[in-house]
Amino acid sequence: MKRALITGITGQDGSYLAELLLGKGYEVHGLIRRSSTFNTSRIDHLYVDPHDPDARLFLHYGDLSDGARLVTLLSQIAPDEVYNLGAQSHVRVSFDEPEHTGNTTGMGSIRLLEAVRLAGIDCRFYQASSSEMFGATPPPQNEDTPFYPRSPYGAAKVYSYWVTKNYREAYGLFAVNGILFNHESPRRGETFVTRKITRAVARIQAGLEQHLFMGNLDAVRDWGYAPEYVEGMWRMLQADEPDDYVLATGEKCSVREFLTAAFEHAGLDWEKYVRFDERYLRPTEVDSLIGDASKAEANLGWKAIVHAPELARIMVDADVEALRHEGKPWIDEPKHINWSV
Ligand code: NAP
Ligand code: GDD
Repeated sequence: MKRALITGITGQDGSYLAELLLGKGYEVHGLIRRSSTFNTSRIDHLYVDPHDPDARLFLHYGDLSDGARLVTLLSQIAPDEVYNLGAQSHVRVSFDEPEHTGNTTGMGSIRLLEAVRLAGIDCRFYQASSSEMFGATPPPQNEDTPFYPRSPYGAAKVYSYWVTKNYREAYGLFAVNGILFNHESPRRGETFVTRKITRAVARIQAGLEQHLFMGNLDAVRDWGYAPEYVEGMWRMLQADEPDDYVLATGEKCSVREFLTAAFEHAGLDWEKYVRFDERYLRPTEVDSLIGDASKAEANLGWKAIVHAPELARIMVDADVEALRHEGKPWIDEPKHINWSV
């Protein structure tokens, strides 16, 4: 049985990746942060009491800012594969908390890489790199496109990208960068633009809200569907040689176009409800990200299937359904959880 460690397992991608790996028969270990309220809602449905002999999901308290803890965990778990998905991942928030973002999104990666090295284990390492690293460099962007980050988040990801590459070259570690363009789902955090829109559509349709306050509607992104992207992460670690890959749909969509698709799907005219609020602008914006994932298609057989208009429909339907049942869009039957980590 293969063993994987996922940082950021409680996030959107971490939850889909945990599902994927459990489905493939892995033993999955996740790093979770201690918080005063439960922060595991995206993975509650995967939980099996660790006393159960069939349990294959194990959670461990830890933080990417705590290097000693990472060394201990890597030594104890001795995973075959490490997926570093943990990060302060919100671009706008990185302008408010630049130092914290640097410490987790940037330094967190080298702490984890160093923990792998110090633990002396033989494992493969995935780094969650980002299309934000391309920033101001015009599209289409691929693995050879120069980086020009436009936020503390983007700059921290560039640092993590290079240290991952450096550990590959310096220590022969099977370490890869997945340079992923925006990918969304019903599990997307509520303050990222797609989920903010689809959640508002459901609430406006239900008569719970009248307005949606937004920032720059002209920004262009390449939005794909998160479950497909975690499959790409896994494929990168199964390759014969470590290499860096872009994952993207290759199709552009502006925030305005996504708004239109989401509101239209609910039979609403977005222009009646959307208002501008400058607080959602960024000091420096990334105008356009459109990826070229032809290397991933050629080497890994990976290709995005769901594109933005369908994604908008999937997310609106899930938010409408969640509101109807006052629950999480991805959990049919909430269970009582007794976390014993
Ligand atoms: P997300 O939903 O925001 O999840 C982030 C995860 O990181 C959460 O589990 C969070 O824990 C954890 N985390 C935050 N700070 C941490 C710390 N100091 N120590 C340990 N864990 C910490 O992000 P996502 O959308 O799943 O993205 C996964 C990764 O891919 C991130 O690194 C992100 O930057 C990167 N990425 C995402 C996209 C995208 O479009 N989704 C594109 C490119 C790259 P809590 O639940 O406790 O907050
Ligand atoms: N969040 C947000 N809220 N964004 C808005 C809003 C708003 O009210 N109005 C307009 N936008 C615009 C932003 O200015 C940005 O241009 C675009 O919508 C997308 O914003 P986000 O959904 O917050 O995502 P992001 O592109 O900044 O970052 C995401 O994708 C990166 C990969 O390119 C995050 O998931 C990052 O972690 C990831 O690395």
